[in-house]
Amino acid sequence: MTGTLHQIATVIAWLAMNTLRVMLMGMLCGVPLWAWADKAPPPHALGHAGHGGHGGDKPMVHRFEDPKHWAKVFEGPARDAWQKPKDLVKSLALAPGMAVADVGAGTGYLMPHLAEAVGVKGQVIAVDIEPQMVKYLTERAQTAKLTQVSAQLGDPSDPKLGAASVDRIVILDTWHHVPARIAYAQKLLAALRPGGMLYIVDFTKDSPEGPPAKHRLLPEQVQLDLQTAGFEAALIPEELPNQYIVRGKKP
Ligand SMILES: C[S@@+](CC[C@H](N)C(=O)[O-])C[C@H]1O[C@@H](n2cnc3c(N)ncnc32)[C@H](O)[C@@H]1O
Repeated sequence: MTGTLHQIATVIAWLAMNTLRVMLMGMLCGVPLWAWADKAPPPHALGHAGHGGHGGDKPMVHRFEDPKHWAKVFEGPARDAWQKPKDLVKSLALAPGMAVADVGAGTGYLMPHLAEAVGVKGQVIAVDIEPQMVKYLTERAQTAKLTQVSAQLGDPSDPKLGAASVDRIVILDTWHHVPARIAYAQKLLAALRPGGMLYIVDFTKDSPEGPPAKHRLLPEQVQLDLQTAGFEAALIPEELPNQYIVRGKKP
């Protein structure tokens, strides 16, 4: 009898630990466990978005509508500890005067770091598909007096960047949300100047942070997507504990 009770207690403890772990994993992108169900894309995007991006896992079509809520989830020292934004931005090989687009910018986690790297003569274009995020990003840039930063609305199938308008594009913790990745990558290729670089930073399969496993992409898949779109793509060295960086160069 005591043995059976002990076994039941062990199973309950195991279930509780795993539930907690899964909730923590969802904190960054997949978000609260109770909100994991896929939701409709933003109204302005209807007719463009869809499931089943080419050649990979199911994209996580998810709304990010309340910037103040997401700022609490996305920003802070706990994330900085593993996201290492300064090291990450060093990997982007930015120089003063360059134009960089942060696609899927969210609340602007990278904004101050990118603005510093390109300087006042450079340009940071923060793109998001949520109108409320774009408003938040615009106000954040104004409050911080980052005159080199602007924010604009994209579409799930189109970042809406000008042709040959940027030197660098970074997509942080967002590529797994993009529905038709190869077609999207072709648009990113068109937005880059010759020799320009695209950096996709996303979660490894065994990361304790990030979206549910079914939405994660192997770096080899991301590399293949970029090559198919016309990039010279490679996995580059990084010091990030939970993530990989795939770099695509415009030939
Ligand atoms: C998980 S958040 C990451 C935000 C930010 N990059 C960060 O690391 O803190 C994903 C963001 O990408 C946006 N997003 C999702 N799909 C997108 C797409 N196809 N194009 C541009 N932004 C997208 C969402 O609205 C959301 O703000």
